[in-house]
Amino acid sequence: MTQLNGQVALVTGGARGIGRGIALALAQAGADVAIADLEHISSAAQQYSNAAIGGFTAAQQTAAEITACGRRSLAIQADVRKKEDAARMVEETVNRLGGLHILVCNAGVVSVSSVEAMTEDAWDLTFAVNVKGVFLSCQAAIPAMKTRSSGCIINIASIAGKNGAAGLAHYCASKFAVVGFSNSLAKELAPANIRVNAICPGILRTQMWEYLAETLKRPNEAKEDAWQRYVKGLIPLGRPQTPDDIGQLAVYLAAAENVTGQAINVDGGVELH
Ligand SMILES: NC(=O)c1ccc[n+]([C@@H]2O[C@H](COP(=O)([O-])OP(=O)(O)OC[C@H]3O[C@@H](n4cnc5c(N)ncnc54)[C@H](O)[C@@H]3O)[C@@H](O)[C@H]2O)c1
Repeated sequence: MTQLNGQVALVTGGARGIGRGIALALAQAGADVAIADLEHISSAAQQYSNAAIGGFTAAQQTAAEITACGRRSLAIQADVRKKEDAARMVEETVNRLGGLHILVCNAGVVSVSSVEAMTEDAWDLTFAVNVKGVFLSCQAAIPAMKTRSSGCIINIASIAGKNGAAGLAHYCASKFAVVGFSNSLAKELAPANIRVNAICPGILRTQMWEYLAETLKRPNEAKEDAWQRYVKGLIPLGRPQTPDDIGQLAVYLAAAENVTGQAINVDGGVELH
């Protein structure tokens, strides 16, 4: 598959999980891909208690995998919560890979708390990464896309952006925000021939779900049993999604010249709107 030959993509949070799957799928479809990620994960919500998980070493490994499949790549250390980092990741991508055609805003965090017990830190972190990070990344990329009179932005929302979930009010609110932001930006940028869509993944066993299965398991329930309970209980097709599933839709959206303003589920039938 080479329909993205000659195009340059930037994937935030591309070191591991869904972002890595999207980056590899775009590269296999012909794109050169820059990976932006944190040096290490720090979170007031403690979902990433193991600082060795992911981080910039993982971003460099993903970039090396892309290079190994014959595309150009680079790993950029950037925190999407910071305006100057968002600007720098776009600038480095344009300077070193020759442009920016596809931006994938994938970086995101989750934590679990009732609203009654929720700390302001948990709320603020969720919105800083999941919502402000998307805004800053898009804002930084728009001028580079306008110079080419075309572009494709893909924001990673969630089925949590289509329906609420107990214990996840802050996360769901942030993902509803991503869907609303993407719809609005699609209308704003259509005259510039820049398309904006959101992908709403279902349930994938990334580090995010390693944390969720551990946190949401019932008393005396094994983590593995909790995972199976969610997969079998929630997903009509009865199987979890994979990073490659999400990557395939990203490749489609990158090439679909008449598709904009959509928030498309990849969830085995959980949400039907
Ligand atoms: N796993 C799921 O079931 C699922 C379902 C729906 C939506 N999502 C969404 O998909 C996206 C990716 O999730 P994942 O499951 O791969 O999670 P993950 O935790 O495995 O990966 C997230 C990546 O984002 C990076 N990141 C976090 N904060 C960042 C910041 N401030 N700046 C730059 N990078 C940052 C992390 O370092 C990591 O590489 C998230 O937006 C998440 O909300 C995940």
